[in-house]
Amino acid sequence: MTTAAVGRNTAQARVADLSWDEIEQNLWESGFALTGPLLAREECEMLRGLYSDASRFRSRIEMARYRFGKGEYQYFAYPLPERVAELREALYGRLAGQANAWMEALGLAGKFPSEHAVFLRHCAKHGQARPTSLLLRYRAGDYNCLHQDVYGDVVFPFQVIFCLSRAGEEFSGGELLLVEQRPRAQSIGHAITLQQGEGVVITTRYRPVKGSRGHYRANLRHGVSKVVSGERFTLGIIFHDGK
Ligand SMILES: [Fe+2]
Repeated sequence: MTTAAVGRNTAQARVADLSWDEIEQNLWESGFALTGPLLAREECEMLRGLYSDASRFRSRIEMARYRFGKGEYQYFAYPLPERVAELREALYGRLAGQANAWMEALGLAGKFPSEHAVFLRHCAKHGQARPTSLLLRYRAGDYNCLHQDVYGDVVFPFQVIFCLSRAGEEFSGGELLLVEQRPRAQSIGHAITLQQGEGVVITTRYRPVKGSRGHYRANLRHGVSKVVSGERFTLGIIFHDGK
């Protein structure tokens, strides 16, 4: 999508303006898809500015303590910041159909409802009611090990990551890494650099890959390469709630 998307006021309108055919095609082909800019510079600065306001968050994780990497992140508390809540709802609405197509391709039971509020009630019934959207802060030397953001039985197949800092100006290094493990084959790696305000839809856990006898399951993990200099903030929007 173009910067025109950022000019639209509501998250709903911006999300609707994205090139969804292209996004869906990229998701089928490689398990991730860039959205183009969805947040204006001021919005990125406002969101990352929240990092120092502890009242907005339910918990803070120092990655080194858990051997998740180095650096830290914080899970937002409910209510989420308005812009995050709107994006979460609007993006879910566009991705639910694709999520169902993936479930079908993988021969998995269950159907994701078209409305995010209905999906959140489903999460709550499975004991998953805590917000999972997060802000991550990486400084020089920080990194994030390859992982998956799974917090219980209920898992939405996609999540969206936004870069809130300017690559090359405010930080260097710190690429988003995606590694796809295929059965009986070596893994494929992708290094992704996002513009400030741009999002990328990634596979949360696994994706369908077309084989000679239908689709098989390829597992994806993501992480962040070491930040060489500066400070890098990202926003992670995860659609399922956690325990
Ligand atoms: Fe993650």
